[in-house]
Order: sequence, then structure tokens, then C-alpha cells
Amino acid sequence: MDSLQKTAVYLLFLSIFSSASHGQFATFKCGDVKTEYNKTAAISCISNTKITSVTVKRCENCNKQNSCSQTIINTFAGNYSSEEGRIWLVLKHNISEVHIQAVKATDQGGYKWYLYSDTGENQGCTTLEITDPEIEPSLTMNGRKLACLSPLGHRQRQIHWFNGHGNNLTGNASLVSEEAEDGLTSLTTTLHEKPSLAASEYCCTVLFDVHTKRNKTKCLSADKAVTDYLHFTSAVTSDPEIPKEHVATILVLLFLVLCCFAAVLYYKHRQRAMARENFADVIRNLLPILRQHEKAEENAPNQEV
Ligand SMILES: *[C@@H]1O[C@H](CO)[C@@H](O)[C@H](O)[C@H]1NC(C)=O
Ligand SMILES: *[C@@H]1O[C@H](CO)[C@@H](O)[C@H](O)[C@H]1NC(C)=O
Ligand SMILES: *[C@@H]1O[C@H](CO)[C@@H](O)[C@H](O)[C@H]1NC(C)=O
Ligand SMILES: *[C@@H]1O[C@H](CO)[C@@H](O)[C@H](O)[C@H]1NC(C)=O
Ligand SMILES: *[C@@H]1O[C@H](CO)[C@@H](O)[C@H](O)[C@H]1NC(C)=O
Ligand SMILES: *[C@@H]1O[C@H](CO)[C@@H](O)[C@H](O)[C@H]1NC(C)=O
Repeated sequence: MDSLQKTAVYLLFLSIFSSASHGQFATFKCGDVKTEYNKTAAISCISNTKITSVTVKRCENCNKQNSCSQTIINTFAGNYSSEEGRIWLVLKHNISEVHIQAVKATDQGGYKWYLYSDTGENQGCTTLEITDPEIEPSLTMNGRKLACLSPLGHRQRQIHWFNGHGNNLTGNASLVSEEAEDGLTSLTTTLHEKPSLAASEYCCTVLFDVHTKRNKTKCLSADKAVTDYLHFTSAVTSDPEIPKEHVATILVLLFLVLCCFAAVLYYKHRQRAMARENFADVIRNLLPILRQHEKAEENAPNQEV
């Protein structure tokens, strides 16, 4: 054996030894996870044998060395949950699941897991991605002031204003951005309706992704805006039932008019029917007289003979 062969054999032996010492008799598989904001995330791992113990650490990023500090699950220490039960472990034979309830933007990152079985152990890192909430904006009109609210979302989203003809009115609006939980923001934009801007329709678009143009849009037609305004003022005077009453009154009046019309028709029909009956009576009474008259005429020539 030359030295190269010796080295190869040595390396082979070393690799067998190291995999044995790391106990790679069991396989463990955990997949990356993508969860919508405020939903429950589940990082699940499956093995070919019974999983006996689990340790999970939170990392800034799976690719970043030494960024895993906070231990969230450690069954060796009897720690099956953390953050007052928001994060918990479900261990079912060869399946291990870490559930995270009502995920926040800060839950995004790497989860380093150490799984143990009687025949071996393994470690790896799973990435949890939290998709930002994409909530429909709410659009309100108060007098000549239009306000569009996007209550919660990624700080990089944009709000644009358009009129019904697709003209960009964004430059005439003022934007207020406020910090919300977890690095998300709340955006409010206000557009003052000026005669020079007057349009039949106003649309507020929340643009979540500039490249894909993914957005949620809410429009308000100027007519609708007026009714909304009326609703607003009537709500202020706490008398929102008036329109319904109007409808009821109109319906009742319409019903009465129809009744009168029907009554008149019926009366006229009745009169005509009575007239027809009278005529029939006259004919009926007349017939015998006529017949008698005919008979009389028939008899008359005999009398003459
Ligand atoms: C999160 O979801 C819960 C219901 O599961 C809901 O009550 C709560 O308002 C939501 N929070 C946000 C910020 O959307
Ligand atoms: C996990 O265990 C079940 C039986 O409990 C078995 O049917 C399944 O094949 C196992 N999964 C793997 C990946 O070995
Ligand atoms: C779980 O870990 C925390 C520290 O992260 C510790 O304070 C707590 O006592 C542990 N719970 C149990 C049941 O060991
Ligand atoms: C609308 O105009 C604003 C500036 O007034 C601009 O920043 C924005 O990109 C425009 N939006 C579109 C969709 O063209
Ligand atoms: C506001 O709208 C008017 C036209 O109605 C336009 O001339 C003006 O430039 C707009 N202001 C901004 C800041 O875009
Ligand atoms: C919003 O999305 C629609 C498609 O759903 C697209 O046609 C439109 O151009 C988008 N709006 C903006 C301002 O990007």
C-alpha cells in the first residue's frame, strides 16, 4: 500500500466511525414551512423510528452561524412548550411537530432541531416563513374628505389613489404611517376632494408587491359616497330607520292605489254584467209575447177563411 491508499482507507474508516458515532441509523426529515400571518404554524419532522427526545432552538437564520440562541423546546428539561403555551410540541411516535399559534413577523426565521431516537440522532434547521397579512383596505368618506385605511401590513406596501378614469391622484393625498406590532405598519391616507379632482369614482389601492402588482382595491362611487355620507349623518342623529319607513309608506300607498283601481274595474264589470242580465230579462219576457203575437198572426188567416 502506498501512502495515498493508506490515506484513503484511513479516511473511509474515519467516515464510518464518525457516522456511527453520530448514530445515523435513523433518518429524520423536516420540511420548510410557510404560514400566513396570525395563523398556526406547524414545523413537522418524520423519522423511520420512534422519536424519543426533541430539542428546538430559534435562530435568526438557518444559514447564519451561531444565530441560534433561544431554546423553545427541550424535552430533556421537561420543556414541552414555551411562551405561555403559544408554542408547543406534539410528539406522536415517529412524528414530531412544533406548533406556533398566531404567528407574528418575529416568528420568521430558522428553527434548529435536534431529534433523538434509540437508534440514533440527527440535527438540522427548518426555515419558517411568515407571509404578511394582505388585508383589504377600508374606504370612508366624511364630507369632502376621503380616508383609506390599511390597518396592518408589511412596511414596504404602498397606497395609491385613482379616480374612475384611472388617473393617479396619489400626489394629492397625505399619508400617515404608524408602527403596529411586530414591525408591521398601519397606513392611513387622506384625499381631500377638490373641484379640480371631482370624479364619479374614487379607488384606493394597497399595492403589496411592486413587481407582481399584487394589490387589494376598494372603490367608492361619488353617488355611493353621498349615500354613505347621508348614512353617516343619519347615524349621528341616531335615526337610521327612516329610509325603511319611506319604503314601507310607498308600498302601502301603491297597494291602496291598486286596490282602488281593482275596485273600480270590478264595479264597472258588475254594472256591465247587470246591464247584460237586464237585457236578457227583457228578451226573455219579450219572447213569449212575440210568440203569442206570431201565433195570433198564424191564426188570423184561418179566421179570415
Ligand atoms: C388573529 O386571529 C384571531 C382569531 O384567530 C383574531 O381574533 C385576531 O383579531 C387576529 N389578529 C389580527 C391582528 O389579525
Ligand atoms: C412512521 O411510523 C408509522 C407507523 O407508526 C409507519 O407506518 C411509517 O412508515 C413511519 N414513517 C417513516 C418515514 O418511516
Ligand atoms: C422551560 O424552560 C424555561 C427557560 O427557558 C424554564 O424557566 C422553565 O422552568 C422550563 N420548564 C420546565 C418545565 O422545566
Ligand atoms: C402615482 O403617483 C405617485 C406620485 O404622485 C407615484 O409615486 C406612484 O408611483 C404613482 N402610481 C402609479 C401606479 O403610477
Ligand atoms: C393636485 O391636483 C392638481 C390637479 O387637480 C394638480 O395640478 C396638482 O399638481 C396636484 N398636486 C400634487 C402634489 O400632485
Ligand atoms: C391591481 O391588480 C390588478 C390585477 O388583479 C391589476 O390589473 C392592476 O393593474 C393592479 N393595480 C395596480 C395599481 O398595480
